[in-house]
Amino acid sequence: MLDVDIKLQKIGGSVITERTSNRPEPRLEEMKRIAKEISEGLSEDYSLALVHGGGSHGHQIVDETEIDKGIDSVEDLMSFSITQSQMDELNYTFTNVLQGEDVPAFSTQPSASAIMKDGKLENMDYEAVGGLLGEGLVPVLYGVPAYDTEKGCSILSGDEILPYLGDKFEVEEVLHGTNVRGIYPEDPKDFENDDIVDRIDSMDEAKNYLGGSQYTDVTGGMRKKVEYLFEYGVPGRIFDATESGNVRKVLDGEDLGTYISP
Ligand SMILES: Nc1ncnc2c1ncn2[C@@H]1O[C@H](COP(=O)(O)OP(=O)(O)OP(=O)(O)O)[C@@H](O)[C@H]1O
Ligand SMILES: [Mg+2]
Repeated sequence: MLDVDIKLQKIGGSVITERTSNRPEPRLEEMKRIAKEISEGLSEDYSLALVHGGGSHGHQIVDETEIDKGIDSVEDLMSFSITQSQMDELNYTFTNVLQGEDVPAFSTQPSASAIMKDGKLENMDYEAVGGLLGEGLVPVLYGVPAYDTEKGCSILSGDEILPYLGDKFEVEEVLHGTNVRGIYPEDPKDFENDDIVDRIDSMDEAKNYLGGSQYTDVTGGMRKKVEYLFEYGVPGRIFDATESGNVRKVLDGEDLGTYISP
């Protein structure tokens, strides 16, 4: 593996898009704020790869067209194709904003090499990602519709890409930026005021209160986010990336949000 310390951070689609919109709607101001924080946080002490989610560029179209349930018509093929393009567009926009803040962001398209089997990632090329990290670039991967050996198409979630890479690169923890302060001990109603749990050590303990998402979400929301960490055995931190300063703070090693310890 690489000599340099690697950090892996996901920025949720709930942060960089208007999640409630029923058409693709990027949040450029949020992207810019995050790009600034990342730029300020970059250091020679580590290499950084980013992953972002779909938000309104991904979840709605998949929910409507159900391409994740299988591809069996020309119409499905077109929806598969267009979903990929909508995600490319979001990735292009975010990458551009990062470059505008002097982050050497490098768009990295996961479904060019990912093989899924019945919704689960079997294999994805990560050697090039390692090489790019070694050169000092910031690869920017993203959730995408991907080739599935059983169904033709399934959704490769950014929530799976993060621990997949975390496992391959043997990172200490992955950083999940989303739109809540952490994990609430019950299906959350009061996102502002409820206390979050500091730490989760077992999925058994967490499954009682982990829900999906308050929005349309085709990749299982918070529950799947946590499940993937346990599946891959990779520790992770769920933190609020909508709160100014937090993206930078977690890169600096601050203990924000909820820590998941598989
Ligand atoms: N126990 C819980 N604690 C905190 N959030 C929870 C819990 N159960 C469910 N959620 C939901 O998880 C959501 C965050 O996951 P969601 O998939 O919506 O965002 P994201 O992963 O950041 O976005 P994207 O999927 O577009 O990348 C919260 O907004 C909340 O509605
Ligand atoms: Mg999600």
